[in-house]
Amino acid sequence: MIKANVAIVGATGAVGVVIREILEDRNFPIDNLYLLASERSAGERVMFGDRSVVVENLADFDFAKADIALFSAGGDISAEYAPKAAAANCIVVDNTSHFRYDEDIPLVVTEVNPERIADYTNRGIIANPNCSTMQLLVALKPIQDAVGIEHINVCTYQAVSGSGQKAIEELARQTAELLNAKEITKKVYDKQIAFNVLPNIDAIQDNGYTKEEMKLVWETHKILEDASISVSPTAVRVPVFYGHSEAVHLKTRSPLSAQQAKELLEKAPGVTVIDDMSQLAYATPVTHASGQDDVFVSRIRNDVGIENGLAMWVVSDNVRKGAALNTVQIAEILVKDYL
Ligand code: A2P
Repeated sequence: MIKANVAIVGATGAVGVVIREILEDRNFPIDNLYLLASERSAGERVMFGDRSVVVENLADFDFAKADIALFSAGGDISAEYAPKAAAANCIVVDNTSHFRYDEDIPLVVTEVNPERIADYTNRGIIANPNCSTMQLLVALKPIQDAVGIEHINVCTYQAVSGSGQKAIEELARQTAELLNAKEITKKVYDKQIAFNVLPNIDAIQDNGYTKEEMKLVWETHKILEDASISVSPTAVRVPVFYGHSEAVHLKTRSPLSAQQAKELLEKAPGVTVIDDMSQLAYATPVTHASGQDDVFVSRIRNDVGIENGLAMWVVSDNVRKGAALNTVQIAEILVKDYL
């Protein structure tokens, strides 16, 4: 079996740490592992299995030493270093939105369009979708294949870990401050996140939507290769540490009963259906998704408001399937089929 030389860019961040765990858990075939971060972390030692690996300064790294680099250090870092890595023949799997909408960059969910990985040869870069799109499309792909989807209305309830380690600390800190009757301090979000919900994720666009909302539109079209699907998104940050939830309403092109949808989803790769309200069986971020690989689907029902309407509740760990896991799954396919 081929063993790859793997670099993790942003190895000390919220996603980078989980990438390390997943590589270890899945016995990813690694020869040399390079952990890269800013000069602030350079020199720290981290255990990976029985190896002790020193964190290196990204700015000094020679990407010719790596076959694959997994980037999760923010869009600006990807903009600067991903092309340098690709030029050194190191294939990049990028978690940021920087390259996602470039036509010649493949945007891959491994359960949905793994065949697009082959297009890495265009620029040496593969993009990982946004966490909210990821779980949505893992759940919707079997329905699109079976009956076609005309319209998607999706409202998200997104965990703070999607904004990185400092946001995890902000939710914890503000919660403690409020419970101790202190003034809250804000460093990451523009408004209080503890005991609150914020309908403001990423930059506001000219059409009144936020960029996080538009990512759901752009990425759904690109990944399903079907721009005729209309998408109406609302993206909301909630005071949850790990796990995004989505209330999804679909209009399908031909009828599909809730029972048929449930049967399709029960067979779908990467999906676990938890749906028996008589037993209070439904997924939440804390009780089901956090720390797990699958996308959990609950509350599958025919929409009472429209014809050919289907409603469901979709939950997944945003730093695992939403980011780190899909990145590692793409890298596994690269090693198996392309290196
Ligand atoms: P560091 O820990 O040294 O700051 P998060 O998404 O949790 O905020 O993590 C961001 C990740 O990106 C961290 O691993 C962080 O490293 C890394 N990072 C941030 N800025 C840089 C930079 N200028 N060069 C290299 N890595 C960076």
